[in-house]
Amino acid sequence: MSTKTGEGFSSSFGAIMAAAGSAVGLGNVWRFPYICGKYGGGAFLLVYVIFVLFIGMVLMMSEFVIGRRTGEDPMKAYTALKPHHPGWKYVGLAGLLTCFLILAIYLVISGWTLNYFWESLSGTLAGIADTGFEAHFNQFASSAGRPVLFIAIFLFLTALVIVGGVDKGIERVSKLLMPILVVLLMALCVRSMTLEGASAGLSYLFKPDFSKLTGEGVLAALGQALFSLSVGMGVMIVYGSYLPKDDNLLKTSLWITLCDFAIAIFAGIAIFPAVFACGQDPTGGPGLVYQVLPVVFNSMGTVGRLFSIIFFLLLSLAALTSAISLLEALTQWLSGDRIGRTASAIVMSLIVIILAAAASFSFGDGILSGVKIGGMQLFDLLDKLTGTILPPVCALLTIVFFGWFMNKEDIIDELSNHGTVKIGYFKVFYHFLVRIVAPLALIVVLVTGIIGN
Ligand code: PFF
Repeated sequence: MSTKTGEGFSSSFGAIMAAAGSAVGLGNVWRFPYICGKYGGGAFLLVYVIFVLFIGMVLMMSEFVIGRRTGEDPMKAYTALKPHHPGWKYVGLAGLLTCFLILAIYLVISGWTLNYFWESLSGTLAGIADTGFEAHFNQFASSAGRPVLFIAIFLFLTALVIVGGVDKGIERVSKLLMPILVVLLMALCVRSMTLEGASAGLSYLFKPDFSKLTGEGVLAALGQALFSLSVGMGVMIVYGSYLPKDDNLLKTSLWITLCDFAIAIFAGIAIFPAVFACGQDPTGGPGLVYQVLPVVFNSMGTVGRLFSIIFFLLLSLAALTSAISLLEALTQWLSGDRIGRTASAIVMSLIVIILAAAASFSFGDGILSGVKIGGMQLFDLLDKLTGTILPPVCALLTIVFFGWFMNKEDIIDELSNHGTVKIGYFKVFYHFLVRIVAPLALIVVLVTGIIGN
């Protein structure tokens, strides 16, 4: 129990499961495979691994240090560390705002996923002809009622876990769901790899093609590394504030990073060999999961229906543990000294569902599709803000604070658990990464990203 409110994870294992639950989500199963394939497979993977280890993981440790040191929400944490420089709290606020926007768009996609899980169960998907999936998806996602219904169900489940509390809700659910998710994913991998012609899918995913690794691909790799590890937005400050005091932060971060990376790779292994074996287009992009995979499942006959159920259940569970972390960050912030946890979770849910519903209405030919902000539909605007712009901005501010403004002795003391954990040479290496490498890389990405647009 480490926070001021007395909430906290009860064990290191539980904490790892919860934080890995936040990291593993739509980003791993829905987004990673298609961008990895798009930007050169193994070539993209190489750059991605470097960003994950040297920037993503470093940020995760930094956020854990800030969170555990203070036991506060992201805004108060900055104030606690720099009481005479109150401006820093706006970095925490920017992160929370980003969480809010991510949660809104995340809910829309999670709602689609839950609907597809339901349609797999009920047999609707099995009754659609191969050529009909694109129209089916567009018609469903652009309609008004059904997507919002599924958003509401998904959000209700998310809020229910939050109301349960940190250890009895988040930790318990993550300890249950994460192993289930791994088993489901392994079942899909085995099926996919044993299909005839599967090897073409593996080489699409892993064979390095450096000609496809454009500057845009490098930026995508960094954006994906941050998004996938849930770092930069303060969620890991929140989870850090719940970490046991004797938890080894380096080890915990390493485990979470490994888990997140492994699940992304296995998601690729589950998807691409099957897509190739069925002669489908691997470059389906964001629509891959909703338009291409159902064709693949239907081509497997009756077992295909079972695999379709497994896949959309897996994706829904992965999304749930991530949405939980986003709503928790907002709930922790609002509850503070103001209102209780339950009231705070309800208020936040009511506010975020309005934005999520508006984003859903703006998608495709939806009823708000004609409303443009800065020339874009709301869904596309949110997607762009949360996918490419805000996370690197928040990550940069966090790392600059951590590397250049936070007291160095405090960092060493917290990372080493008051000198009880040896961190040796890592100290020098860590400072080099935190002060120079990570901020520079983030600046380069941001500047190129903004100029490129
Ligand atoms: N890491 C999650 C994913 O890969 O789907 C998404 C996410 C969760 C991003 C929480 C940011 C965050 F704060």
